[in-house]
This record gives sequence, structure tokens and C-alpha cells, in this order.
Amino acid sequence: MTAADRPPVALVTGGGGDIGRAIALRLARMSAAVAIIDRDEAAATATARLIENAGGHAIAIPADVSSALDTAAFVETVEAQLGPIGIFANNAGIEGVVAPLHEYPDDTFDKLLQVNVKGVFLGLKHVLGRMRQRGAGAIINTASTSAIRGRAGLAGYVASKHAVLGLTRTAALEVTGTKIRVNAVLPGPVESRMIRELEGQARDSTVELRRNGDAARGQPQDVADVVAFLASDEAAHVNGAAWVVDGGMTVA
Ligand SMILES: NC(=O)c1ccc[n+]([C@@H]2O[C@H](COP(=O)([O-])OP(=O)(O)OC[C@H]3O[C@@H](n4cnc5c(N)ncnc54)[C@H](O)[C@@H]3O)[C@@H](O)[C@H]2O)c1
Repeated sequence: MTAADRPPVALVTGGGGDIGRAIALRLARMSAAVAIIDRDEAAATATARLIENAGGHAIAIPADVSSALDTAAFVETVEAQLGPIGIFANNAGIEGVVAPLHEYPDDTFDKLLQVNVKGVFLGLKHVLGRMRQRGAGAIINTASTSAIRGRAGLAGYVASKHAVLGLTRTAALEVTGTKIRVNAVLPGPVESRMIRELEGQARDSTVELRRNGDAARGQPQDVADVVAFLASDEAAHVNGAAWVVDGGMTVA
């Protein structure tokens, strides 16, 4: 089998969660061999099983994306076991808590930056290092509509997602002139554990989360379909984009 015949290799962080699982399954349907990274080993393994049961090829690796050591190790392992990473869904993230800024816990703020910003940075750093040697690849960072607007009660989350967009744009500029592309997908609220958790917390707090219009809730699949497009050759001229997937919520 020549390199050109080999199925593409996709790396999905947070692949045990709702959106990451949908992305992993969607990329597997594009014939990619998929490596699923998650700190929750059982969840990562469950996603890998779903892919294998559907006739695809997947491996699951438990790891913490906010650790430089873990990130270097899983990138190395994935390339050794599956081959060169062609698609990277840099997706793992946490939500923190709902609280007004003057009461927002310092340690939660620090943790959000550690996972959502440092984690995305480390993934970019290690995967881009490899992609640059080959001159090709597609990276999709999962930001949020919280990357382009404020949300009362979510200071840490909003700050972290604005940073993800800044990292995306910087990385995109650094790869111009190559066949590497770095884009961000910006989901609005998606039917998922994360949104149920945030809304549960908001009910118990004085903060009103729903100030951004009431567009229908998206599904993880809606995000996965856009990630698949951004990963595909059809998006060959799309670089540095902030691709909103929110049913129109942010234009309300
Ligand atoms: N759910 C939404 O409505 C929504 C909207 C916009 C953006 N997002 C973003 O989408 C991404 C996925 O969210 P989701 O809704 O699937 O949430 P989720 O909680 O279902 O999935 C997140 C996954 O990331 C993993 N993870 C968290 N921290 C990690 C770490 N340090 N190392 C490795 N894995 C880690 C978790 O174990 C989990 O499996 C996140 O970046 C989130 O901020 C979600």
C-alpha cells in the first residue's frame, strides 16, 4: 500500500464526550482511522468500539490534554500505530461553573485556562510540528459561540474560548503557503451533557444564561458535519475561519 492509498489518520481529543464522539464517528465514515484521546478512558474506549462495530478502525488512548508530556506521548503513539496524522480535531474542553464575575472561583478560572487554552495550544504545537514536516493537514479547534460574544455567568469559559479563536487565527497565519489549514468550529448550545450541566447550575444561580436568543438547540452531529467539511479537500481554501454552527443564534 502506498502512502496515497492509506486511509487518512484522524486524531480527536475529548473523543469520549458528546461532540467528540460524533466527530470521531463522522470522520470514521470518511474512511479515516481514528485515534480517540480522552481523560475518561472508558468513554474513549466506548467511542472506539462504536467505530470498530461499524466496520472502521479506531484506537483509544487515555490522556490529559493539558499535560505536555501526555500530549507529546499520544501524538507519538498515534503516528507510530496508525501513521501520519492528517486530521486533528482539537476538541477536548470543560465548562467550569456558572457564577457572576465578582464571585467566580479563581481555581475554576485557572483550570479552564489550563484545559481549554493550554490543552488546545499543546495539541497545536505537537501536531503542527509533525504536519509542517509533511506540509499538509487539517486542524479544527472546537471553540464556541462564546469565542465571539460574552455570556453572563461564564467568565472563565468565555475567556478560554476567545483564546482558542486567537490561537486558531495565529496558527492559520503561520501555515499560509502550505497545504495545512487551521480553522475553528463555533457551536452554539448543543444537546449534550455539558449544556445540561450548565443549565442545571444556572437554575440554582442568580445568573440568566439565555440572553442570546432562543434558536433551536443543535445536535452533536451538526457540529461533526461541519468539522468533516473543514477536514475535507472541499475546504482547501478555508484557513483561519471561525465557523459558527448555531442555527442563527449569534445573528439575533
Ligand atoms: N455542548 C455544547 O453545547 C458546546 C457548545 C459549544 C462548544 N462546546 C465545546 O465542544 C467541546 C466538546 O464538548 P462536549 O459538549 O462534547 O462536552 P463533553 O463534556 O461531553 O465532552 C468533553 C470531553 O473532553 C474530555 N476532557 C475534558 N478535559 C480533558 C482533559 N484535560 N484531557 C483529556 N480529555 C478531557 C472529557 O472527559 C469529555 O469526554 C468542548 O471544547 C466544548 O467547550 C460545547
